[in-house]
Amino acid sequence: MLKQKLNTEKINYKSIKPVFDNSKKRVYIETYGCQMNVNDSELVLSILQDNCYSLTKNIDEADLILANTCSIRQNAEQRIWGRLDVFRLAKNKKPELKIGIIGCMAERLKEEIIERSKIVDLVVGPDAYRSLPDLLHNVEAGQKDINVLLSREETYADIIPVRMDENGVSAFVSIMRGCNNICAYCVVPYTRGAERSRNPKTILNEVQTLVDNGYKEITLLGQNVDSYFWKDETNSEKNVNFAKLLEMVALVNPLMRVRFATSHPKDIRNGVLYSMAMYENICVCIHLPVQSGSTRILELMNRKYTREHYLERIAKIREIIPDCSITTDIIAGFCTETEDDHKQTLSLMNEVGYDFAYMFKYSERPNTKAARHLKDDVPDEIKTKRLNEIIELQNHLSLESNKRDIGKIFKVLIDGVSKRSDEYLSGRTSQNKTVVFPKANFNTGDFANVRIVSCTSATLIGETVEEKKREKIIELKNIIDETIHNVENKIKSKIKQRIKKDT
Ligand code: 5AD
Ligand code: SF4
Repeated sequence: MLKQKLNTEKINYKSIKPVFDNSKKRVYIETYGCQMNVNDSELVLSILQDNCYSLTKNIDEADLILANTCSIRQNAEQRIWGRLDVFRLAKNKKPELKIGIIGCMAERLKEEIIERSKIVDLVVGPDAYRSLPDLLHNVEAGQKDINVLLSREETYADIIPVRMDENGVSAFVSIMRGCNNICAYCVVPYTRGAERSRNPKTILNEVQTLVDNGYKEITLLGQNVDSYFWKDETNSEKNVNFAKLLEMVALVNPLMRVRFATSHPKDIRNGVLYSMAMYENICVCIHLPVQSGSTRILELMNRKYTREHYLERIAKIREIIPDCSITTDIIAGFCTETEDDHKQTLSLMNEVGYDFAYMFKYSERPNTKAARHLKDDVPDEIKTKRLNEIIELQNHLSLESNKRDIGKIFKVLIDGVSKRSDEYLSGRTSQNKTVVFPKANFNTGDFANVRIVSCTSATLIGETVEEKKREKIIELKNIIDETIHNVENKIKSKIKQRIKKDT
């Protein structure tokens, strides 16, 4: 039973890993969508773990199922409706099971979810997670409950997420919430509310906790990290922008790798690039979504930059951080997109030579600027054809980028065993490329220097330099042994000859 009420002073947030406790009610959490949602599920678990719930990884054991949902494209929401059919079967078997929809879809559809799916007991938006224990209290008593209030202040700054990753190597740290850019296609400002930055002190504390718990890499998360800004009320010299925050985080521990996402082409400043160039532990990878290569489409998307501005930012990145990888997001078939606009996207991709891209077909989202003012007039077959051309080009660019790495040595953070073979480990370079290489005596969480010997468009294949050195030493030792052996034999035969002569 849920007896405790949420009280932030009482909460003990010390354990950053799930505590499995059979005497408590079990929560099963499914997460959809972006990295921010992954981190939010960890935050939710932190709140629930301190309020009489324990995580289960087995859905059949659950007393409560939470689906942390995404609304970014229509198919993301369709998947959730499909999952609700599966949850219905579970609830038929176990009527006391409670079902909660949280996250972006909860915020977008609100009570409509409960009206459409009678099995849902609880609907909670991204800014209302602190109220979960109270809401669950009502749900336990047999009511349905909903809280989708958005907030201008909530950053969950005091809550240390309970990490659900498997490897204990990489973790997400949220530095801000919400978004103030009204990109015409995007539902996020409506589901996650206005932008607000988190107090830097609490960010540094969280990073230190991760260092103390053996984590080796963090990714700072925000919808638009370049607009991070913390105003110090007493001294404006202590204001913190994103470039400064990056530096502060990098200085927490030189062995902790630092990544961040997502950057915005209109806001990314040289200061961020200089911070990246200055600290070895800030990874050299920038995810800079372009969305389209046509200035006309960018304007309709309300992105607030031109193709030329975007390319100028790319040139600056290359100038300040020559070995930086650049990745992007691209939307095919936005409203009014012509074949010429599409060709401009392909030509921009070639010009930048992206290392990696997430590529999507435009999906109209209700109530966005585009849905209200523009016609979704590119036929689906054309969207598919253009998306396929974009994917084909990106596969080629990724392969070219990977080929350029052959022969180079990278410091790789090992994050697990390769999916293909237990004899191989898998890790990531500073550029965020996946590398697989023979295991030798390395473990997850170690750094290894790896020389790239071959590649596919998705993966670099390498051998550890340490291992190579050892092979070279063995080879040299064999040569030396053989030489000694030969010399010995020669000396012996000379001695024999001398003895023969003398006798
Ligand atoms: N349709 C297709 N893709 C979208 N994205 C955001 N909204 C939509 C939409 N309505 C893509 C953008 C964004 C990424 C997270 O998802 O490329 O950068
Ligand atoms: Fe994340 Fe955006 Fe999906 Fe919300 S809608 S879960 S912010 S990707």
